[in-house]
Amino acid sequence: MNVHDSDTISQILVNKGYKKTDSINDAHIILINTCAVRQKAEQKAFTLIGRLASLKRERPNIISGIIGCVAQEKGTDLLQHFPFVDLVLGPRNIYRIDDFLAQIKEGRGKTSSLDLTCEPYTLTACNGYAKGRVSTFLKIMEGCDNFCSYCIVPFVRGRETSLPAEDIISASKYLISQGIKEITLIGQNVNSYNTKNNTLPTFPGLLKKLDKIAGLERLRFVTSHPKDLSNELIGCFGELTSLCPHIHLPVQSGSDNILLLMNRRYTRDKYLSLVERLKIVRPDITITSDLIVGFPGETEKDFEDSLQLIDNVEFDNLFSFKYSERPQTKALQLPGKLDEKEKQRRLFILQERQRKITLSKNKKMEGSIQEILVEGTGKKDDSQLTGRTPGNKVVNFSANKNLKGQLVRIKIIKGFQNSLLGELVDKYDRKVY
Ligand code: 5AD
Ligand code: SF4
Repeated sequence: MNVHDSDTISQILVNKGYKKTDSINDAHIILINTCAVRQKAEQKAFTLIGRLASLKRERPNIISGIIGCVAQEKGTDLLQHFPFVDLVLGPRNIYRIDDFLAQIKEGRGKTSSLDLTCEPYTLTACNGYAKGRVSTFLKIMEGCDNFCSYCIVPFVRGRETSLPAEDIISASKYLISQGIKEITLIGQNVNSYNTKNNTLPTFPGLLKKLDKIAGLERLRFVTSHPKDLSNELIGCFGELTSLCPHIHLPVQSGSDNILLLMNRRYTRDKYLSLVERLKIVRPDITITSDLIVGFPGETEKDFEDSLQLIDNVEFDNLFSFKYSERPQTKALQLPGKLDEKEKQRRLFILQERQRKITLSKNKKMEGSIQEILVEGTGKKDDSQLTGRTPGNKVVNFSANKNLKGQLVRIKIIKGFQNSLLGELVDKYDRKVY
């Protein structure tokens, strides 16, 4: 979501005639987009903000801003604590970035906007948004009403709101006309798209409409809350040609006691039955997840339940975190806090266990033929091309021509921990194969 927000901000500004620079030393405007989901992310933001102080000392005319979830959390205190900061903007206020910058440039002083009720919109008519890209995010909803007891998001991104389906459809058509082949719909909980305002289409309905758009090769979405994963949505994985067989379905814990304390509103068995149904509808589906260790009150048995769950599901990849205390959240008041050392120990055990599962799943793909959407040259080795399988695994391969934006068939030669190595078979054409 933050990557997409930063993108949106820079596109609004580029459309207003600003130019991007790769070097912070050349910039006249420096905006730091921040994440507050865990203390560590927040710390990173403050380290960067510290750097702003010396830049502003050297070049006092720079306009500097703190944007995003830390800005929303700390509010105008930031302007007092950091006198070199000119602008503080919450994540729901980014759409008027050019107005705020204009105010500062006109000499109207420091400014802030922390209104959590601002409605997001898609940058349909934004020239150049898709330039040079094959794949993009598209925001379909913003905010969250779930109040998981550990999570700061509902406090900093506000209440759930869905963007109009017509806007999402026309934005998708525009993006495809600009060369985009793959769209990832994003929202804190995409499954509850339009549920609150009781409007149509619901999320599966939206997917069905988007699937009909000519030229959209691949459709993905993040993130899904297990409690809202309906049978209709599961069915979409078996029906829609463009919908990729991958779901990110955060489980957070394998213990019913902890899930209850987390206010997740599903049980371990319910989660496992969702996984089973997904695998029945789409046997080749890849499943990834998020998991927190060391939540207050997590016993050794609760932790064992999480380990057992990851053995049971065999996630393709797992993002795991040590519980981090966040202001305003319910979990702050819970007894049974674990010390850092114990959280670290549990995280290490869990990650080791998952590493083996991920590697073994990647190795199982050796010898298979996969459809890859070529995204460009490799990050480490620019003689290689890189792309993803429908299941969202990164594949690197060599080719003597630029195949960016094309679907190709690749034979997987080797499975590594974080990627696959492949060999080009031929260009892929859905009509032929
Ligand atoms: N501590 C640790 N992890 C957290 N997450 C959200 N809040 C916290 C927290 N307080 C994790 C969850 C979520 C992911 C985006 O970040 O696993 O799914
Ligand atoms: Fe946070 Fe839970 Fe909302 Fe996800 S669903 S953003 S974890 S409150």
